[in-house]
Amino acid sequence: MSCQTMPNAAPHPTTKEAGAGALGEVRIVAFLCNWCSYAGADKTGMNQLPVPAELSVVRVMCSGRVEPTLILETFQKGADGVMVLACHPGDCHYKEGNLRAFCRAELLERMMPQLGVDPARFYFDYVSAAEAEKFSQVTNDFVASIRALGGTAPGR
Ligand code: FES
Repeated sequence: MSCQTMPNAAPHPTTKEAGAGALGEVRIVAFLCNWCSYAGADKTGMNQLPVPAELSVVRVMCSGRVEPTLILETFQKGADGVMVLACHPGDCHYKEGNLRAFCRAELLERMMPQLGVDPARFYFDYVSAAEAEKFSQVTNDFVASIRALGGTAPGR
């Protein structure tokens, strides 16, 4: 698979497959593009769809601003899981920021085992401003999958 083709992100485990634990057991940081995913999160709230309480949102102007070093630093500072949600291919407000983010995500996932981080703790996907249901689904499913893996910090 080449990062030039911008395929859809790999399917994530469903809540049922991943299992579910108690709320508050894990810390998830979600980097959301201002123009798409953040607006999608807003719409999720307006539609009163469920969003996991464990989600800490970081609003960025483009997914291309989220460097792999920032993702690794987020893990280092205690995150149990990190999400990057971007504009769909062709919709990036800065032309190819999401393409760069996708390519970096693909590389990072390959490097993570050597760095001692389970790649299952990282998730990249595309969520538009209109996709409130998708935002609710991917965030809940990812949190459930991280709960199943368990927290990385002592006591979690
Ligand atoms: S502006 Fe949304 S990913 Fe670039």
